[in-house]
This record gives sequence, C-alpha cells and structure tokens, in this order.
Amino acid sequence: MSQHLSRRAVLTRTGLALAGSLYRLKGAACEGGVDISTPLKVHASRKGLLFGSAASQRYLKSDPAYAALFAQQCGVLVPEGELKWNVLRPTPDSYNFGPADWMYEFTRTHNLKFRGHTLAWWQALPGWFSSYANQGNARRLLEEHIATVVGRYSGKMHSWDVVNEVVDPYDKRADGLKTKPWLELAGPEYIDFSFQSARAADPNALLVWNENHLEINDTWSRGKRKALLSLLAEKLKRKIPIDAVGLQTHVSTTDPSFDNKEFKTFVRKIADLGLRIIISEIDVIDHDAPANTSIRDEKVAGTYSNYLDLILKEKQVIAVLTWGLSDKYSWLAKFKPREDGLPVRTLPFDDCLAGKKAFTAIANAFDWAPDRSPMG
Ligand code: XIL
Repeated sequence: MSQHLSRRAVLTRTGLALAGSLYRLKGAACEGGVDISTPLKVHASRKGLLFGSAASQRYLKSDPAYAALFAQQCGVLVPEGELKWNVLRPTPDSYNFGPADWMYEFTRTHNLKFRGHTLAWWQALPGWFSSYANQGNARRLLEEHIATVVGRYSGKMHSWDVVNEVVDPYDKRADGLKTKPWLELAGPEYIDFSFQSARAADPNALLVWNENHLEINDTWSRGKRKALLSLLAEKLKRKIPIDAVGLQTHVSTTDPSFDNKEFKTFVRKIADLGLRIIISEIDVIDHDAPANTSIRDEKVAGTYSNYLDLILKEKQVIAVLTWGLSDKYSWLAKFKPREDGLPVRTLPFDDCLAGKKAFTAIANAFDWAPDRSPMG
C-alpha cells in the first residue's frame, strides 16, 4: 500500500468520510497540501515524544473536519480557554465545568491525553475578580480553585500549567517575579502553595511552570531566563513540586537563529535541574514575513525547523504542542493580524485544513530528533 496517501485518502481510510466530504466542498483552494499520511503524533511517538495542540470547544463542535483532523494528528489536547478562570468561575462561589468536561470527553472518545491550562495567570480573570479578591481572601481563593479544578480531573491529566507568565523583570523586584495580580494579593509564596495544592489534588499530573518570551536575546528575554533559572533552583531546593518547564515559544519569522550559546545554555540548565521541558504553545508569527504565500510558508517552516531542530536535541524535552492546529482558528489572526490584511499562516495546517510546509518541518524535526523512548 502506498506510503504517500493523499490527505483525503487518509481521512476516508480512517473512517472520517464526513471530514473528507467537507474538505472537498471547499474546492480548488484546498488542493496542493503536503503529504500528511503519517500524522504528526506518529512522527513524534516514534521518538518517545508527544505531539498535540490547543483547541477550543466551539470549533471542535462546529467543524467536524477540523475535529477529525485534530484527532488524527494529535496525541494530546490542551483547552485553549475552557480551563481559564473567566470560563470556569462565573461567580466567586460557583464553577462552570461544562466546556472543560466536554473537552475531556473529546479526549476520551479519540484516545488523546488531556493537558490543563492554566491555574495562576494574570490574564483571563473573571469580571468579578478585581473588586472581590483582596489580600485577606486571595490565598484561600487560589487554593480552593486549585483543589477543586485539579481535583475534578485528578488522574485524568497529563500535565497542568500551574503558573503561567509569572516572571517579569520589568516589575523590578529582586526575584524577577511579576507583581500583578497574584503576588500583590497573596505574596510571592503563591507560587509555592499553587504547586503544593496542585500536587495534593493530583499526585500524578506533571506540574508545569509555563513561561513566555524566553527564546530570543533581547533584554526582557535575558532577564526572564536569569530570573526563572534562579527561582527554579531555589524552589527545587525547598522541594516545591515542580516537574517541568513549559516554553510557550510564540516565535517569529524575524527572530534570529535560536542556535546560539545563550539559549542553549539556558535549556541545558533547566535540564540539569532535573526538570522536563514541554514546548507548550509553539506557533510562528508571520506578521513581518513577505505576502507571497509560498515564500511566507518557507519562512514559517524555516522558523519551526530552526527552533525544533535545536530544542529536540535536548532529551528532557518530552512534548511539543502547537497553539492551534489550523490557521483557520489561530489566535494570531486577532492578536497579531498582518497589516496587509492577508490571513495569517502560522500553523501546520492552512485555512482549508491542508498540510503546509510547516507540517513537513515539524515532522522532519521529529524524525531527526534523538530517540527518548525507553527502548531508544
Ligand atoms: C490566548 C487564546 O489563544 C486566545 O483565544 C485568548 O483570547 C487569549 O489567550 N499565552 C497563553 C495562552 O498562555 O493562554 C494564550 O491564549 C496565548 C498566549
């Protein structure tokens, strides 16, 4: 049987005929994708790696072709918003688990792992938060939230982003921690008790410290790397249960090569602390790339290669997740739209769900990565 099945053939053969027919409806604009017959999750798992992506319930529900593609390509799902406070906490005294439970059911139906994002973050807080939370109640509020939310999915989660984007050297604290809102409300120890509460509620999930903007060599990134490394070392010494670091990796086609001493040393030092590494939200910002589709796709793919070829050499890297699977639903369409109005082309699949050069770049990076499976 041919190793090089077309995308349509693969979808049909895997029983996803509905997805295939929707795909055909889109017509000629959808033709010309790259060979995706071996899903990214398979390329990854051959090396003992996990591949997955973020998705929203809304689009998994409304777009069966996308849902089918997601299940075909991914080994892990992280809800893009359904586990954030603004969805989970309609009021200070109530929880809305409907959307997150739906996502969990999706992972069960399609045999995916489930990843939690995120417990303590400065964004996506509900409207009531700023007038309700204060220094008197913030610790209890956060601890109860973690106990309830992590407890609900205990035994079902691959990993939890316990804290997210909590280092900010521009806030000018000696420890480099971001001040608002959690530190001002609950003290710098909120990081310790967040990890401890998460471990108490689910002893098996990997507990992750997730951070943005660590990859390049500007002042902010340098400051973040330095502060993060010393915070991690200090907390691990005190046995705070941190298992992994999440590198968000929202990189850009204009970033210089990641293959430089500073970034490599940083990655090595995280590994030397005994921590695992998850590439938790990779996508490639194409804001400043040329308009021409083919050239732009080359640049985006080249950025994936440049980053992944380097980072996957580190065997403590256990998983790679893209922040979305198809350009059709990328958050960057809203957060980093192109000035010329052209749709962004940041992810492995395009608006029509056809594989792009970025798909091949990611697949090749997995193929070339050293084996970290127990037998490898
Ligand atoms: C983004 C989502 O993708 C958007 O849909 C939402 O409106 C804002 O948040 N870093 C993170 C993610 O940790 O939670 C963010 O997700 C993207 C940046």
